[in-house]
Amino acid sequence: MALRNVRIDGDPVLRKISKEVTKFDEKLEVLAKDMIDTMYEEDGVGLAAPQIGILKRLVVIDVYDGKGAHVIVNPEIIYEEGEQFEIEGCLSVPNVTGSVRRPLIVKVKAQNLAGETFEMIGEGLMARALCHEIDHINGILFIDKIEDEEEIE
Ligand code: NI
Repeated sequence: MALRNVRIDGDPVLRKISKEVTKFDEKLEVLAKDMIDTMYEEDGVGLAAPQIGILKRLVVIDVYDGKGAHVIVNPEIIYEEGEQFEIEGCLSVPNVTGSVRRPLIVKVKAQNLAGETFEMIGEGLMARALCHEIDHINGILFIDKIEDEEEIE
């Protein structure tokens, strides 16, 4: 298990656009595994590669629905439906939460660690996590979208 340092808001790497993953090799697998370990260590529901300083379009998500961690490479939202307005937080923005408007359902096209294309549908928390993490690989933080900010502590 290898933990990586989570970059905090203010670090310019969080504002860069990540590059498409083109090499599906062992190095990518190790990176995904480290991201999952780091996400669990920090009690997050998701982590995007730029959050550990790697500008690749790679995200991991576990919404604790019993399905384990999803590794999602080069994700693209291809359909969205409905709306939800829920409180979010982010490992890169400690001690801040706020309500963000997101679609209720999203359909995402992505690749797995073998480079195979798949589609997944996320609803509720999973839809929110997908949108939040895809924002990260586009240099967007949830604080950019907060409508009712409330600081914790
Ligand atoms: Ni985040």
